[in-house]
Amino acid sequence: MTKKALEVRSLTKKVKNKVIVDDVSFEVEKGEIFGLLGPNGAGKTTIIRMIVSLIGRTKGEVIVNGYHTDEQFKKSMSEMGAIVENPEFYKYMSGYKNLKHYANMATNEVTEERIKEVVKLVGLENAVHQKVKTYSLGMRQRLGVAQALLHNPSLLILDEPTNGLDPQGIREFRDYLRSLTKQGISVIVSSHLLSEMELMCDRFAIIEKGKLIHVSSINQLASQEQFVPTVLFEVSDVNQAFELLKEQQLTNDWKVVEGQQQFSIKIDKETIADVNQLLVSKGIKVYSIHPITTTLEDRFLELTGKGEKGGKNE
Ligand SMILES: Nc1ncnc2c1ncn2[C@@H]1O[C@H](COP(=O)(O)OP(=O)(O)O)[C@@H](O)[C@H]1O
Ligand SMILES: [Mg+2]
Repeated sequence: MTKKALEVRSLTKKVKNKVIVDDVSFEVEKGEIFGLLGPNGAGKTTIIRMIVSLIGRTKGEVIVNGYHTDEQFKKSMSEMGAIVENPEFYKYMSGYKNLKHYANMATNEVTEERIKEVVKLVGLENAVHQKVKTYSLGMRQRLGVAQALLHNPSLLILDEPTNGLDPQGIREFRDYLRSLTKQGISVIVSSHLLSEMELMCDRFAIIEKGKLIHVSSINQLASQEQFVPTVLFEVSDVNQAFELLKEQQLTNDWKVVEGQQQFSIKIDKETIADVNQLLVSKGIKVYSIHPITTTLEDRFLELTGKGEKGGKNE
């Protein structure tokens, strides 16, 4: 039996006739770190709030580790631990006392043993008896995760967990999320930064204006097969080149660099050689050919429709 860590089907949120989350569906595999990537206001927090039933759904289903939230609400809730807003701690109490406090409030009994376990899991053994006000941001973040893990959930959901962390902090955070997945815990993280998703996730969904527009693994996003690069040509006669390439139907993504003898087109590696040969054979001088390196960031912008406008060349 291969149950999914999470299944989200047609999740929709309407507020006063405005659709904030629009028919979003995705699945999270066991032991996977799954990302929700999208700009601010895209609907990530709203999706997460609906998953953990902090707010109602207009439509859609949420199934956590096989438990349907509509049919087995308590069971499905007990499978999840989440940090949706910044976790609040009593700064003048130790990390341990804070956890103890949450443990006392939990609906299911949380043993002393379990508190020790989560403290170890998040690597706070040495600091747990210090006051929270002495903690770095990263340590507070980990204390938050410890709290979310107290009741032993199989799915951990973290909304923008790296907000305010520096690159070193993010790397540490990633390593330790990875160690959680080794214990069979699946993780969902949200972020508006692709660079973070790239570091942390196995797969991610791109959310924009409430819609899920793409699910991809990091490798797929970067892979050459899927992605045709833009290539910049410098030639003696741009207009003549345009006519030639139009005949060959190679001008779909044609762009001229104003004031210069340059144009860019989107073609694969093999076609670069063909275009070069064609131009030269018709007496057009080719001065230079430059593949424009495309980063994951470009690819993301392209997918979300923000790239390409205004040209790529500085
Ligand atoms: N309760 C609400 N009522 C009206 N609009 C809301 C409400 N909650 C969120 N929104 C709007 O929904 C959109 C998505 O918000 P949010 O889920 O917080 O996005 P994200 O977490 O991706 O930044 C935003 O435009 C926000 O202003
Ligand atoms: Mg948010």
